[in-house]
Amino acid sequence: MKVLVIGSGGREHALVWKLAQSPRVSALFCAPGNAGIESQARCIPIAAEDIPQLKAFAVSEGIDLTVVGPEGSLALGIADEFRKVKLKIFGPTRGAAEIESSKIFAKDLMIRHQIPTASARSFDRVAPALAYLAHHPLPVVVKAEGLAQGKGVVVATTHEQAREAATDMLEKQRFGAAGQRVLIEECLDGAEVSVMAFTDGKTVVPMVPAQDHKRVGDGDTGPNTGGMGAYAPAPLVTPSLQTTILRTVLCPIVDALSRIGRPFHGVLYAGLMIVRGAPYVLEFNARFGDPETQVVLPLLKTDLVDVMEAVVEHRLDQLTVEWHKQSSVCVVLTSAGYPGSYQTGLPIHGLPESRPSDDVLVFHAGTRREGQAVVTAGGRVVGVTGLGPRLAIAREQAYKVVGTIAFQGRHFRSDIASHSLQANP
Ligand SMILES: Nc1ncnc2c1ncn2[C@@H]1O[C@H](COP(=O)(O)OP(=O)(O)O)[C@@H](O)[C@H]1O
Ligand SMILES: [Mg+2]
Repeated sequence: MKVLVIGSGGREHALVWKLAQSPRVSALFCAPGNAGIESQARCIPIAAEDIPQLKAFAVSEGIDLTVVGPEGSLALGIADEFRKVKLKIFGPTRGAAEIESSKIFAKDLMIRHQIPTASARSFDRVAPALAYLAHHPLPVVVKAEGLAQGKGVVVATTHEQAREAATDMLEKQRFGAAGQRVLIEECLDGAEVSVMAFTDGKTVVPMVPAQDHKRVGDGDTGPNTGGMGAYAPAPLVTPSLQTTILRTVLCPIVDALSRIGRPFHGVLYAGLMIVRGAPYVLEFNARFGDPETQVVLPLLKTDLVDVMEAVVEHRLDQLTVEWHKQSSVCVVLTSAGYPGSYQTGLPIHGLPESRPSDDVLVFHAGTRREGQAVVTAGGRVVGVTGLGPRLAIAREQAYKVVGTIAFQGRHFRSDIASHSLQANP
């Protein structure tokens, strides 16, 4: 079977790594890929958003299954385009992916189906938004409706901050079309977890719960990033909480999407706040999370091709998905300055040629090859995933290898998973 993965980050490297293990895969491609993916898949220089070229490649190469990493390609309708020509693709249609690309669509659907979430109101003009904010208790959350690469949400602790956020989005058009409408939302206080699930629009198979670390600095300080690290399973999600999440969040939203004629096929990601033991939805994503994928997929025992094929063929109910009883921790190495501006093209030293040990995986994110050298090519550069029978051991494994990879200005958080370890030693 010929498989094509679309994207170029750490998530896609983890997907390629897992798919490469399947005895059913005879050829693996990635568009556009990165310097790490190159050793496990043939990288094709087509951008993830260039749907006509991707489609032409999939047709001419006779690709049997395409797996979509990034949300941008889904929001552009890659799944619709591929299905038109009978190409099998793992990922939702544009209509179903609106659960991520429109936070207002998602909020309306949740409210209509009594899925627990923060109360909110939407605005498309600045004056009514500011008037509403003036009387809103603090903190308050202001969200751009559309895709904003994790930069479109402001948790404001003062009215001035909230006003500035709303003005930036609605008046100054800081996020372009993605900020033409905003949600002003009640602030929830609790602990965050992510639960991803495979779904074919009928059956929902949750993955092990994960927790990520968004702030750039130790102790959750500094600005939000795409993710500085993650760990799984998150001990906060007990089996009974996982059942509640499935029953009150994942199943109802999948049913709701099917009922409105937008059945969701692929991975649905629920970003949750656990408030006094109960889950509330912060957002849905229409794809695998990054860096959650780098900790969750190494724990998947079942052949990923089997799972994806069952999703695409709408027979997920016939498959048993199994997990390794292990823990994993991923630490992300970033460029100096990230999530602000940063330099690229810096040589990376100490990258292992092969897997450093059975307990460690190195996933490339923003890297590219320049002659013999591998150089930085993004804000998040590489992620190191450690595995072990317990979270503490997994963490130790990851940090051991993190210390051996070097590039100018290298930054990483030294406290990934430590918060959870203090609570659950
Ligand atoms: N209602 C809320 N209450 C408290 N914090 C929130 C709320 N909504 C979002 N956040 C915080 O903002 C972050 C980003 O919001 P999210 O809705 O996940 O958007 P995105 O991932 O698209 O930026 C969340 O991970 C969470 O930390
Ligand atoms: Mg989020």
